[in-house]
Amino acid sequence: MRVEQKEKNLIHKPVLVQEVIELLKPLKGGVFLDGTVGGGGHAAAIISNLDPKLYIGIDRDEDAIKVASQYLKGLNKKFILIHDRYSKMREILADLKIKKVDAILLDLGISSLQLQAEGRGFSFLKNDPLDMRMDRRQNLSAAHVVNTYSAHDLERIFREYGEERWAKKIAKNIVETRKRFPITTTEALAKVIEFSIPKKFHPKKIHPATKVFQALRIEVNNELEELKGGLKAGIDALNTKGRFLVISFHSLEDAIVKRTFKEWEAENIGHILTKKPITPSVQEVEENIRCRSAKLRVFERS
Ligand SMILES: C[S@@+](CC[C@H](N)C(=O)[O-])C[C@H]1O[C@@H](n2cnc3c(N)ncnc32)[C@H](O)[C@@H]1O
Repeated sequence: MRVEQKEKNLIHKPVLVQEVIELLKPLKGGVFLDGTVGGGGHAAAIISNLDPKLYIGIDRDEDAIKVASQYLKGLNKKFILIHDRYSKMREILADLKIKKVDAILLDLGISSLQLQAEGRGFSFLKNDPLDMRMDRRQNLSAAHVVNTYSAHDLERIFREYGEERWAKKIAKNIVETRKRFPITTTEALAKVIEFSIPKKFHPKKIHPATKVFQALRIEVNNELEELKGGLKAGIDALNTKGRFLVISFHSLEDAIVKRTFKEWEAENIGHILTKKPITPSVQEVEENIRCRSAKLRVFERS
């Protein structure tokens, strides 16, 4: 089946969309919960192809909710969008007086919308305030992390969340720099990082600041704890034969999903439908480089 997609004005290209639709097909006409609705790319494809009774889209970024709302409006189908964190889906469903859902989709990380937006601080390719908050109601920003965390904590974050081998040197140089002036912009931080990694070790395929920026984003948005909370809340909300789909882009995220699904299987909650994670085809990676590290894992509740 070729998935029907509303390509016009699509700013964020949904990843593994054909595969997601195929896996959700047995649940056609059900109640779907999308914990990371973003620009509404997956949502539009799912709504157009699987005619859900209700589509609930959650996102912690208010701008994403606005974009998705505009984008999905034209489909004339029943959907509800909620500005919140997916780890709170238990409370969200209780408010909506919904006991169980038939499918849950989490498409983790950041959207192209966020990466390209002015003033959000997610990208080192533009000079913006060092922010990186997905939800701008929260206090912790990247500037706060960079200017107040100890060298030890910065190093840990860069190493653990960014797998950055120059973590110690970058952390030390950040602490040295901020003694002279606070690091408040993406450009200033990118410069410290570039300066900290000897030129001959600058990565060939990515910008030298890529890993540190990713690590900071994960820290600022508490992304790994969110994922653990979302998995826990989600499995309780899933109907019999309901499916939990998670697309991750980071090895730590994928490890959490893999481990949790295995635990659920051992507890006889259901079974894993993807013994190996589903990854994008060569053609999809050629068309959308952002998806190159995507991994889709699926669990079915029994
Ligand atoms: C990769 S994008 C999703 C794109 C979407 N599937 C689409 O096709 O347009 C990830 C989205 O998840 C949101 N997000 C990340 N963590 C979240 C959380 N804990 N709760 C709710 N939304 C979250 C981000 O704000 C972002 O909009």
